[in-house]
Amino acid sequence: MKILIINGSHRKGNTDIFIKEFKSNIDKNHSLRILNLRELEMKLPDGCEICGESGICPNIKDQFSNEIEPTIRNYDIYVITTPTWDDGITPLTKIFWDRIVSWCHKDRMYLKGKKLAVVTHGMAGEKSWNNVINWVKSVCVWEKCHFGGSFTFKSSSKIGDIKIDKIQLQQFIKDLIS
Ligand SMILES: Cc1cc2nc3c(=O)[nH]c(=O)nc-3n(C[C@H](O)[C@H](O)[C@H](O)COP(=O)(O)O)c2cc1C
Repeated sequence: MKILIINGSHRKGNTDIFIKEFKSNIDKNHSLRILNLRELEMKLPDGCEICGESGICPNIKDQFSNEIEPTIRNYDIYVITTPTWDDGITPLTKIFWDRIVSWCHKDRMYLKGKKLAVVTHGMAGEKSWNNVINWVKSVCVWEKCHFGGSFTFKSSSKIGDIKIDKIQLQQFIKDLIS
């Protein structure tokens, strides 16, 4: 399986620690790519009419459009990993998703039939994280992809202060890859 991890954290913090743990639980015969959104030149979507119609934006040219987006269309499994911010995904994660909105155009549908899963965490708890999970479920509807499951864990603003249930993580990975 080809797996793309989309890291929406704005810093090298708890999300990165989780991803390291996730990676160590993935069998070597799967390929895993980690896309750290904060390291990319990824401009804000301009909100033009073409973007609104899920067309390829003619106005924005940056590292994301030139070098990254064309290389991330052919994965079997996509995993959004984002801290929960204000009961939602991070700004970086949202910008990323708004930049690939053209994928849902009927001529492209790059996510159709594939799996999209989510990992989210934070200091609040399930009630807060469920908003993120529900957003991903909603994306799955219009992208016509399968919801691949969710994994949540408690973390705080202190880097390294996280509580990952390893048994639950292994089950999440097992279900994701099956
Ligand atoms: C702006 C902001 C908003 C936050 N909102 C929430 C929230 O709504 N729910 C929650 O569980 N945690 C919230 N948190 C806590 C973060 O999710 C938590 O600190 C997390 O470990 C940060 O991940 P990182 O180290 O990868 O940046 C928020 C943190 C920040 C900075």
